[in-house]
Amino acid sequence: MEEVKIGIVGMGGRGRGWISTCGLTPNCRVTALCDVTRPLVEQGLERADDPDVRAFYDYDEMLAEGDIDAVAVIVEPKGLADLTIRALEAGKHTICEVPLCYSMEDLWRMILAVERTGLKFQLAEQVAWAPFVFAWRDMVANGELGKILFAEGQYFHGMPEHILYQDSETGRKMGREEARNNPKAVRSRYCNLGDPIMYHTHDLSPLLRALDDRVETVFCMGTRRGSYSHEEVDGSDLQVALMHTEKDTVIRLAAGFSFPTPKPAHWYHLVGTGGTVETARVGASCLGQPGKRWLADHFMATREPAEWSYTEWQPAPPEAAATGHGGTDFYPLTDFISSIIADTEPFNNIYRAAEVQGPGILAAVSAQSGQPIQVPEFRPNESRPAGSSPPE
Ligand SMILES: NC(=O)c1ccc[n+]([C@@H]2O[C@H](COP(=O)([O-])OP(=O)(O)OC[C@H]3O[C@@H](n4cnc5c(N)ncnc54)[C@H](O)[C@@H]3O)[C@@H](O)[C@H]2O)c1
Repeated sequence: MEEVKIGIVGMGGRGRGWISTCGLTPNCRVTALCDVTRPLVEQGLERADDPDVRAFYDYDEMLAEGDIDAVAVIVEPKGLADLTIRALEAGKHTICEVPLCYSMEDLWRMILAVERTGLKFQLAEQVAWAPFVFAWRDMVANGELGKILFAEGQYFHGMPEHILYQDSETGRKMGREEARNNPKAVRSRYCNLGDPIMYHTHDLSPLLRALDDRVETVFCMGTRRGSYSHEEVDGSDLQVALMHTEKDTVIRLAAGFSFPTPKPAHWYHLVGTGGTVETARVGASCLGQPGKRWLADHFMATREPAEWSYTEWQPAPPEAAATGHGGTDFYPLTDFISSIIADTEPFNNIYRAAEVQGPGILAAVSAQSGQPIQVPEFRPNESRPAGSSPPE
């Protein structure tokens, strides 16, 4: 295969953005768009600007009749697992948006679907390809930071009031005032956040890549159910998880999406016996601007600015810069398309995806039970050969 034909399901803001990302990705062509909300599919067709792209309003029809080799699943978090499994079962390679899924049952169903079908699967978590991650991975591997004792990731993404509701016919987001007088207004997915720690994916994924490690135990605490900021939001405003890894590092992850927060939304930090590194704490994004570094044996009294760029750590093609999230959106899709053409394993394959998302799901369980929880082994092993269900 020289070109991968892709169908995108979910034409919300992110799904429409994927049309542009696919257009910038080598050997990738969008041939089908699908959403149950017709006006959004029309907006998608306008963006694609290609008469050969077919519109679908029924997902099973796209899977059966679309001229597609692969599917990009870009629907709301609670629907990602089900639509991914259906795509795999229909014989399509599948790339799925973050956060993957919200239950261990769905996580195992996804693992088994990939193992059963033998098709390519990629979690589209893009921060794992940020330049600072490659730099930190090398510093950890070559011992510059000594033994890593502590790692932190934080995702505080204050939610604006104007996306709490949406028009049930057009999908257009709206605020509380407009919704009050609008009979078509329904609560948007942002009101059903549940456990924010389950959307820690963009934090744990890059940290685990830098550390080359996996989480073994999780514990979590959070604020009460029901936001202090928005009466519509049913989940906790904030949850904080502690995780212990196989290589004996303690990770602290904090997540919250319903209270006002300054930019940047993400912050990452490593503490080793040989030094510390952290990303920028001011500015629009932590990507593409200097972070801080302190090395114990370099006569450095305090943290000093440190820049980590793509050019130094891995080549960045010019088209990557035009994609979202500081150009990082380019990489998971490019890696997925290459894996199909060259028959290689995508980086964020189902096992890595499970090692990233599983601890977040179990952290949410821990926040309710108050107990630490062991993370199971997701890769096939003696007690669970590939394709068989996990032991009870
Ligand atoms: N990686 C990132 O940085 C990043 C950024 C933004 C969003 N996301 C993820 O992308 C996904 C989409 O986000 P969004 O803001 O566009 O969401 P959204 O709720 O605005 O849009 C989702 C769309 O999917 C459609 N849909 C759901 N089920 C369907 C089905 N069975 N068949 C056809 N259409 C269906 C809905 O009608 C809706 O239009 C979410 O999972 C989100 O977490 C990831």
